[in-house]
Amino acid sequence: MEMIIFDTQQELDAYAAELIINIVNEKPSAVLGLATGSTPIGIYDKIVESYNEKKVSFKEVTTFNLDEYVGLKPENDQSYTYYMNKHLFSHIDIPSDQTHLPNGMAQDIEEESARYDTMLDAQPVDIQLLGLGHNGHIGFNEPDVNLPYGTHAVKLKAETLEANARFFASMDEVPKYAITMGVGSILKANTIVLAVRGADKAKIVKEALTGPITTSVPASLLQTHARVIVLLDREAGRMMG
Ligand code: F6R
Repeated sequence: MEMIIFDTQQELDAYAAELIINIVNEKPSAVLGLATGSTPIGIYDKIVESYNEKKVSFKEVTTFNLDEYVGLKPENDQSYTYYMNKHLFSHIDIPSDQTHLPNGMAQDIEEESARYDTMLDAQPVDIQLLGLGHNGHIGFNEPDVNLPYGTHAVKLKAETLEANARFFASMDEVPKYAITMGVGSILKANTIVLAVRGADKAKIVKEALTGPITTSVPASLLQTHARVIVLLDREAGRMMG
């Protein structure tokens, strides 16, 4: 595992964006695995900046996102589809039919999961961007005794529902399920970039990267992958020596 600790978040964002841009410039038809959450926002800003400076084009790129809420329409401002359009897709030249997120509005989530995995098998991810949850989750793969290999539905934990409640008018509106790529699908990516920032993640960073490989810390499974690049800010990396 390669690990780089940055003094500032801006440096981390610029570095991560460059990794992705370099891959697209080397291989214009690259397949990108993308994440949502607070961590990638600055990275997407940098990518948009480079696109505006004409340093990269996404015309031939295909993207797959890790996850989506079940039951939120794409136009709901809490959906990950909305997030991706807002922070990245609407600012670059990627054709919308080349951007994929699991369809959280699908009637049959099992069928939708199988469809997503079939697409991922046909277009393997060149570079997968990941954030890290406080409990070690990647995508919506929460700690458990067993983890499904492929894309699947997950029941969100009570703490996740509570954390999400602030974004919705009432608790009833908070999505109870999500659909996520499995750890098996994530590990198929050629290169994985794990970006983590903030002092509140320092402990889980150490556990995930140097602790035992266990499904109770899903990110620890990244230790089995041949090409993971870990990008940390000072705070997230403060226990890494
Ligand atoms: C997002 C995702 C999640 C987040 C993780 C960290 O698509 O799959 O695993 O990466 O929850 O979120 P932030 O970046 O908000 O701390």
